[in-house]
Amino acid sequence: MKSIFAAVAVAGLMFAGNAMATDMPADGKAKCAACHKVDTKLVGPAWKDVAAKYKGQKDAEATLIANITKGGKFGWNMGQMTPRGLGANDEQIKGLAKFILSL
Ligand code: HEC
Repeated sequence: MKSIFAAVAVAGLMFAGNAMATDMPADGKAKCAACHKVDTKLVGPAWKDVAAKYKGQKDAEATLIANITKGGKFGWNMGQMTPRGLGANDEQIKGLAKFILSL
């Protein structure tokens, strides 16, 4: 457990220090990239737009974790998201929610 959290934290720092070319974490590439990109919309919204939508909201991380886990519609009018994307587990979803909100 601890090492996973440490890895997420380190990844977060790396992304924070590399604003020019923000790359999706490996979990995102494996479980989400079929429908999402960081900068532009694809099947689903750009993750940067999601970060903007939740900017300044206290419960943003919990909301994102819940939404990614259950899937469905979140008001983007782009259709339905499959629950957990392509099979992400709880740990991966948590890490990705943090990543999205860091954008
Ligand atoms: C099969 C395509 C598909 C996959 C795979 C997918 N998504 Fe989505 N996602 C969507 C669509 C479509 C929407 C927009 C739904 C709507 O119109 O409201 C969306 C919306 C979202 C949102 C916005 C939630 C909100 O509250 O506004 C987030 C965050 C998100 N996806 C994260 C992820 C993550 C993380 C993964 C990988 C674990 C993932 N998605 C995998 C299709 C997908």
